[in-house]
Amino acid sequence: MELRAGQVAVVTGAASGIGLAMARRFAAEGLKVVLADVDEGALEKAAAGLREDGAVVHARVVDVGEREEVVALAEETYERFGAVHVLCNNAGVGSGAEGRMWEHDPNDWKWAFAVNVWGVFHGVQAFVPRMLAGGEPGHIVNTSSGDGGIAPLPTASVYAVTKAAVVTMTESLYAHLRAEHARVGASVLFPGPHMLRTGLWESHRNRPDRYAKQKPRRTPYRSLDQWEAAMKEAGKDVRFTPVEEVADFVADGIRADRFWLLPDSEHSDAQIRARSRSMLDRADPAYLENFILD
Ligand SMILES: NC(=O)c1ccc[n+]([C@@H]2O[C@H](COP(=O)([O-])OP(=O)(O)OC[C@H]3O[C@@H](n4cnc5c(N)ncnc54)[C@H](O)[C@@H]3O)[C@@H](O)[C@H]2O)c1
Repeated sequence: MELRAGQVAVVTGAASGIGLAMARRFAAEGLKVVLADVDEGALEKAAAGLREDGAVVHARVVDVGEREEVVALAEETYERFGAVHVLCNNAGVGSGAEGRMWEHDPNDWKWAFAVNVWGVFHGVQAFVPRMLAGGEPGHIVNTSSGDGGIAPLPTASVYAVTKAAVVTMTESLYAHLRAEHARVGASVLFPGPHMLRTGLWESHRNRPDRYAKQKPRRTPYRSLDQWEAAMKEAGKDVRFTPVEEVADFVADGIRADRFWLLPDSEHSDAQIRARSRSMLDRADPAYLENFILD
């Protein structure tokens, strides 16, 4: 679809990282932006920054894991702006799960599913019927990840399971929209191709009490800086993709009505091939062994 001044974009997880970069990019194109995030302080700062740049902004504190909050976001958005053209179901968290799956804290699963899976589903349910009824062109972008969206990183397996669900949910959504001959398209985003310097590694900063860990962590959370230092010490090259590049890629993808927002990457392609080959050959998933760390 065309992106034009005066249209409306809703972005969840818009107070930080990729969400904020997408909101900035849409605002730069002249779209009105609705920022939704659970982190009130960061949200206010993000909204103020965008307003300073001349954007029309509406910000609302929303926990995407709570259905009524997402429905209230949709109602308020339609009351204020009368339409939604772009919906980015982007809010997401790393689960903080440690150890083997049979040792995981069930609340790590419940929290990651609430945000990463239910959050996307709530966005679809609250906005898509209104977008279809409006009859205008529209587009939905759901944020997945190479971890799970392509193949799981067994050291971050809860996150991977949620991001695999986002791919399947978006494929199904695409088919349902096509079956309705809708003017609304759908895409699944794999931010990258490299690592991103965002708040994802500090996801626990916004973890609600109702999903608090029931058993304390055995090891402290590792920050992105600590991880980067460890990788460099081990002689590994760490590359980062700027979030602005991801936002440009998304805007181009919406314009081109592209389903797979998957940046060119030899690494991703090798993973896709290895996984597909394993399935087609009915062979064990040996490609996972590359990632298995003790
Ligand atoms: N950073 C990466 O390397 C990377 C890679 C692939 C995919 N992703 C995905 O990109 C998306 C954005 O993450 P990011 O990297 O920008 O991280 P980020 O932590 O900088 O941004 C995520 C935002 O989501 C918000 N959020 C968390 N829980 C929420 C909830 N319940 N309701 C509403 N908002 C909530 C946070 O407050 C934060 O502002 C996520 O879905 C993430 O899984 C990130």
